[in-house]
Amino acid sequence: MHVLKFIGSILIFQTWKLKLLLDKKLLNLVNLTLVLYYLLQGCYFMTKMKNAERLDNIAPSGIRKLFSRAQGIPGVISLGIGQPNIPTPKGLIDAVVKLIENGDNYYSPTPGTKKYRDAVAEQNKRWYNLDYDPDTQILATASGCEALFCSLMSFIDPGDEVLLPDPSFLTYPRQITLAGGKPVWMKPTDELKIDTSNMQDLVTDRTKAIILNFPSNPTGEIMTALELKPIIDLAVDNNLILLTDEVYERCIFTDDKHIRVPALDGAYERTLLLNSYSKTYCIPGWRIGYAAGPKEMIAQMIKMHSFIVANAPSAQQNALGEFINTKEADDFTNNLRDILKERMNKIVKGFNSIDGFSCRKPEGSFYAFPKVTFHKDYTTAVELSEKIFDKQKVVLVPGTEFGPSGEGYLRASFGSISMDQIDEIIQRLKNL
Ligand SMILES: Cc1ncc(COP(=O)(O)O)c(C=O)c1O
Repeated sequence: MHVLKFIGSILIFQTWKLKLLLDKKLLNLVNLTLVLYYLLQGCYFMTKMKNAERLDNIAPSGIRKLFSRAQGIPGVISLGIGQPNIPTPKGLIDAVVKLIENGDNYYSPTPGTKKYRDAVAEQNKRWYNLDYDPDTQILATASGCEALFCSLMSFIDPGDEVLLPDPSFLTYPRQITLAGGKPVWMKPTDELKIDTSNMQDLVTDRTKAIILNFPSNPTGEIMTALELKPIIDLAVDNNLILLTDEVYERCIFTDDKHIRVPALDGAYERTLLLNSYSKTYCIPGWRIGYAAGPKEMIAQMIKMHSFIVANAPSAQQNALGEFINTKEADDFTNNLRDILKERMNKIVKGFNSIDGFSCRKPEGSFYAFPKVTFHKDYTTAVELSEKIFDKQKVVLVPGTEFGPSGEGYLRASFGSISMDQIDEIIQRLKNL
C-alpha cells in the first residue's frame, strides 16, 4: 500500500510539473525533454517496485477486509472472523506463563520440541488409535496455515493441479496458487459435501494432491467414512497425496466421532494431516499447529519449514505438550462443543425464521451457511453482505469468498457471539 501511495505521489508530482510548465508557457523543447525524463524515471521506478507476479492472481481475503472495515464502528456485530471467544483453559495459560518466566524464550529445534511432538503423538493414539513416531513423523508448525503452506510448497511443482472442495477455506486456492499450482474445484452435492460421482474426470496427468477439510469451513458438513471412500480410492488409483485439514476435530455436533482421514483404509501412507490448536483450545493468537504423516514426507516439510519460519514458538509448544493429554484439556473441548452447539441450534433456528433464508444444521465447525433468495435490490452474495453491513451493521461473509458454488450463500461464524447477540442479529436481518 505504501509503495502504491509513493508511486501515486510521484505520478501526481510529474503531472503537476507538466501543468506548471504549460501554465507559465515555459514548455519549450528543453523543458519537454525534462518532463519526459521525469516520466520515464517514474515508469522505471514503477517497474522496479511492482509486486512479484505470483501475487497478481491472489485476491485479498474478503474476511480480513470485512474485519478491518468493521473495526471501531459502534454497534457492529461481527459474524465474520472464525475464532472462538471462549477463554483459553487456565491450565494452558499457567503452563505457558511459567515456561516463559523460567526462560523458555529461545528458538526450538526445527521439527519442534520433544515435549510437543511426544504429546501430539500421544493424543493421536489416544483419540484415534493412530500411530505416529514423534521423532520422525511429526512437525510442529507456526499455525495450521503454515502447515498447509509448508505442505504445498514441499510437494507442489509449478503447473501441478490440486483438487479442493467447492466451497472451502479461502486460503486453500490462494496458497495453491502461491506454490505455483492450479486449484481445481470439486463440485458439491446439494448437501454441500463433495460430489464423488464423476471425480475421475477431474484427474489429469498433472493432478498431484487432494485437499479435504471436515468438519468443513464454511459449510459445517462432515463426510462419513463411507462417503470418503471413493476419494481415497481415487487417490490410491492415481497415486495422489491427500492433504487433510482437521482443525475443527473437536467442534462436532452429532453423536459421531470425528473421522481422522489417515486412520481410514488405504489413506495413511499418502496422507499429510494438517492440524492446529487455534480452535481446539481457543488460542488462535498463539499460532501453533502441526503436520503428521509418512516420515519421508515430513522430512521434506522439515526442510521447507526451516526456511519459512525456522521453528514454531517454543514456550507455546511446551505448554501444549504439558497440557493436551490432561483431563482438563478433554473437559475443555467437551465444554467448548456444548457451548458452540447451543449457539448453533439457536442461530440456525433464527436464520430459518427469516423470509428468504434457509439454513441446514452444520454437523461441526462453528459456521452456519444459510442459503438466501435474492431479489432486485441484491443479486449476488457480495451485494447482500454489503447491504446487511451498511443497513444493519451485521458482518456476514459472502459465500463466494469460499468458491464459485458459494454464490447464494452467506457464512456466519458463531464462534464469537453471545446467545443474546443471536436474537439481536436475527431481528436486524428481519428489518433489512
Ligand atoms: C479450515 C481451516 N484450516 C486452517 C485454519 C487456520 O488455522 P490457524 O489459526 O491454525 O492458522 C482455519 C482458520 O480459520 C480454517 O478454518
